[in-house]
Amino acid sequence: MKIIETIMEENSIFCGYRIPVVSYVYEDPDELNKELVSIVDEIEDFYLNVKTESISNPDGGTNTTSILTHNFWKFNILDRTEYSSIKKFKKFIGDSYQHYIEKYTPLKFEDTSKDIYVQCWGNKLGKFDYLDKHTHSSTLFNQHLYHVPMELSANYFIKSPGHDTYTRFYSPVILNKQDYLPVKNKEGHLTIFPSFVEHDTTANRSPNNYRYTLGMDAINPNPEQAESVLAHSTYVKLYEDEK
Ligand SMILES: [Fe+2]
Repeated sequence: MKIIETIMEENSIFCGYRIPVVSYVYEDPDELNKELVSIVDEIEDFYLNVKTESISNPDGGTNTTSILTHNFWKFNILDRTEYSSIKKFKKFIGDSYQHYIEKYTPLKFEDTSKDIYVQCWGNKLGKFDYLDKHTHSSTLFNQHLYHVPMELSANYFIKSPGHDTYTRFYSPVILNKQDYLPVKNKEGHLTIFPSFVEHDTTANRSPNNYRYTLGMDAINPNPEQAESVLAHSTYVKLYEDEK
């Protein structure tokens, strides 16, 4: 698995914080990305035609018109194991998180590996659209799950609109909050980062093509919290297919 490591301190003044933003490359992503486009289109169709009013649901601070983002906790792309490539993709996500946890966090992977829960949604950005600066911290989790040992987020780039776009990761330090690290979006790249890091995207400037991505949150609850996690939204356990 090819890994592209970017440490935020190397690119700007992040006051000595070392924040790893790491991209994992999915090999031969053509079939996977084709299936992901179909899944995202199908789910979007459902919300546009059946749950029309859900466009007024919160959008996680992204200010996007994508109805999928307004329903990010209502569906999980990783449920769609009837598509041949999704099981393999889940394993890839698990292996990537395993590497990130082992290399960049103080957690021991053997304590966490079998209980990584992931929420995975789609974002489909049309002409002029972009995701405003946001974090993936959840007020619901803050209220109900006061101790979650790990919370890592990620994005997976499915399809480019035909020109370069970037995700920008911002400094967590108040004094230089406007400093950011730009990461060029590449098809087949899964980029993992701590959930507290603010980020946004540059705009889709194509008049004809959509920009397709997945957003993800991963947590590792204590056994007694697992039930609350499942009740909270539509998390799936990453390694459940191996049973
Ligand atoms: Fe995000």
